[in-house]
Amino acid sequence: MGGSWLGLTWGFGGLRCVDGVPSFAPTLPAAWQGYRFGMRWRGRQVRVAVQAQGVEYSLLEGAPLEIRHHGRTLTLHVDHPVTCALSGKASFPQSFKAVIFDLDGVIADTAVVHHAAWKKLAAEIGLPFDDAVGERLKGVDRRASLEILLENATHSYSEAEKDALATRKNDYYRQQIEHFGPENLLPGAREAVAATRRAGLKTALASASRNAPLLLERLGIAELFDYVADAGNIRHAKPDPEIFLAAAAGLGLAPTDCLGVEDAAAGVASIHAAGMAAVGIGDTRALHQADVVLPAIAAFDITDFATPEKKTQDERGHVPPIV
Ligand code: BG6
Ligand code: MG
Repeated sequence: MGGSWLGLTWGFGGLRCVDGVPSFAPTLPAAWQGYRFGMRWRGRQVRVAVQAQGVEYSLLEGAPLEIRHHGRTLTLHVDHPVTCALSGKASFPQSFKAVIFDLDGVIADTAVVHHAAWKKLAAEIGLPFDDAVGERLKGVDRRASLEILLENATHSYSEAEKDALATRKNDYYRQQIEHFGPENLLPGAREAVAATRRAGLKTALASASRNAPLLLERLGIAELFDYVADAGNIRHAKPDPEIFLAAAAGLGLAPTDCLGVEDAAAGVASIHAAGMAAVGIGDTRALHQADVVLPAIAAFDITDFATPEKKTQDERGHVPPIV
């Protein structure tokens, strides 16, 4: 039994401990339909079921656990199994029940406005700002963005000074979006969200921006979302999964029922850490971790990603018992 358990976990399951995190890279021998194994890890009970259709990770008991699947970080929660493609990249279509969209740079043409406001602030306080810094700020909340900007500062700033800088940047940003209207939607964005709803899926917004409610009103699309996560209640900025998990919970769905759409590397990491599949919008190099990358939201066709019904375990086929 011990030998066969080791063979499955270390051999076929590809289990290694990397930086203290249980990391899997499962393979499925051609002659096998599937296999399962269980393991205990620091007070948790984990079950791994491998089939051609995907790998299902389940936390049976214990506190949320971070694992890696082919290098991608996932957080397991009791009663919320996470299914990943054997290859490491999710395959589509899947039986999603909802799509969770980011706002800035996905729906609204505001990534450039945030970028310009940070650039102006950086110039005013004598800090360098190039496209690489700009890319790192994408998707990251206001305070965490400021901390990235201040990495190059030659002196430290007090909390009150940081508050003032963050407010100044926000003022620059608000001055621009005050004039926004539906013309500032990215091409195809309204249709992408509307088509998702017509296909019978729910829609939610997971934006780190505290300006999201104002922007949604200005763009005239607030009614297209079943749930809008409140950035003001999120304690951990993207790439932490908190905001995507909050959006799934707000919809009353398991994370694995949701597809996330993001234009930022931090956002893609947040989606994956939540245990969801990720569609990247934009540059394939910056978004290489995404399961698929589209050049723009106009290319998002929900029928490429979602099938109408979720299959049951029985329909997926028989899985041998736990070793
Ligand atoms: C994200 C943007 O959506 O929201 C970031 O991509 C921005 O650039 C973050 O910093 C926070 O936005 P706000 O409007 O609350 O400062
Ligand atoms: Mg964004």
